[in-house]
Parts: sequence; C-alpha cells; structure tokens
Amino acid sequence: MKPLIVLNLKTYLEGTGEGAVRIARACKEVGEESGIEIAIAPQFCDIYRVASQVDVPVYSQHLDGVGAGSFTGHAFAKCIKDAGAVGTLINHSECRLKLADIEASVTAAKGEGLRTIICTNNIATTAAAAALGPDYVAVEPPELIGSGIPVSKADPEVVTGSVAAVERIDTAVKVLCGAGISKGEDLKAAIELGSVGVLLASGIVKAKDPKAALEDLVSLI
Ligand code: G3P
Repeated sequence: MKPLIVLNLKTYLEGTGEGAVRIARACKEVGEESGIEIAIAPQFCDIYRVASQVDVPVYSQHLDGVGAGSFTGHAFAKCIKDAGAVGTLINHSECRLKLADIEASVTAAKGEGLRTIICTNNIATTAAAAALGPDYVAVEPPELIGSGIPVSKADPEVVTGSVAAVERIDTAVKVLCGAGISKGEDLKAAIELGSVGVLLASGIVKAKDPKAALEDLVSLI
C-alpha cells in the first residue's frame, strides 16, 4: 500500500496565502510523479484559495464540533467542506481539545463525509483517539515537533506502541506518525515501524525548495 503524506502548513509565513498555493502545486507534482498521495493542510482562510487552484487533497487544520447556527468564531464542517477540503486534522498538540470536543469534531466531520485525522501525543492518547473511530490517528511527541529530529529515529517505540494499541481497539483505524520528519529515510523508517504515512510540516514548508524536499521525502519508497 502506498503511504499517505499530510503536509501541515501551520501558520508558517512561507505557507500562507500565495505561499500555500505554491507549496500545494509542489505536493501535486511530486504526488503525481511518485504515485503517493500528498495532502496539504493550509490555514482556514487559505482552504478555498488552495482547493480552487490546485487539484490536491486539502485538509483543514482544525474543525469544531458544532452545527449550523449560533456559533460565532467556530469552524463548521459544512463550511470547511464547501471551501474544498476533503478532511481535517483534529486535536493537534498546538490546538488541543478535550476528549468530548474531539468526539464532537469527529462526528461533525464524518457527518459531512470529511476524512478525520486525530493527532495525539503518546500511546495512551492514541488508544483513546482510536476508540472514537477516526480514519487516522497521527502520533506526534510534542518535544520532537519542529525539532528536525525524526520521531521514527528518536522514539520508534511510540510509533510501534501506537500501532499495537490501535490494532487492539479498531483495526479500521490507520496510524500516521509525525514530528521532525523531513527526509526519505525518515519516511521509510516510519513505514517500517508500521505506520501508513506521516504528518509533517517544518522540514518541507521552511525548506529553501519545498518541491526538492518533497522529492527527497518520497525517494526511498
Ligand atoms: O502537524 C505536523 C507536525 O506537528 C510536525 O511538525 O515541523 O516537526 O514536521 P514538524
């Protein structure tokens, strides 16, 4: 099975506005050349901009578990979908939610047919997240996020432990890993540890040439 790569643009300046479109084009090109799905998660305000200009899977960085109505300031599943997203991240370490909020977000996203990736910080939260039935959990030790030190090398046990924990709970849920991933060898190691792909950001978004960085990322698959 080909891996899934999800590139989170966070609020990096390089991945904002037209920068998001440029990086999305690189995802599309490298995805087509390699046959590997490379999705992108821009900021809310850039979802429509990216999705309407580039044929690439777009994810929201967050989604609130609210419906239509009186919910000022919330990101609502139908609006995210109508903007062109096909999925959403939920509960990133940089945007943490309570368990009940995570469940509400998963339910709201599924109600609109959006794919769901619950981000987690360790094996225990990965197991709890898997019980909510998302499409994916993405385990990312917070101390390695943005560090340039790949989780697949620095903490392989959190990946293998997460894969084992999820298998015991729901075999339909797939495991991604992330934090510090940037090179082909990091992705290869992540796959060898049992994950089906990676969630990553700085190693690509802040690279001098994001397209070349993506080409390196997929080079050993
Ligand atoms: O969502 C991806 C993430 O938190 C990992 O970030 O910069 O370590 O690839 P980074």
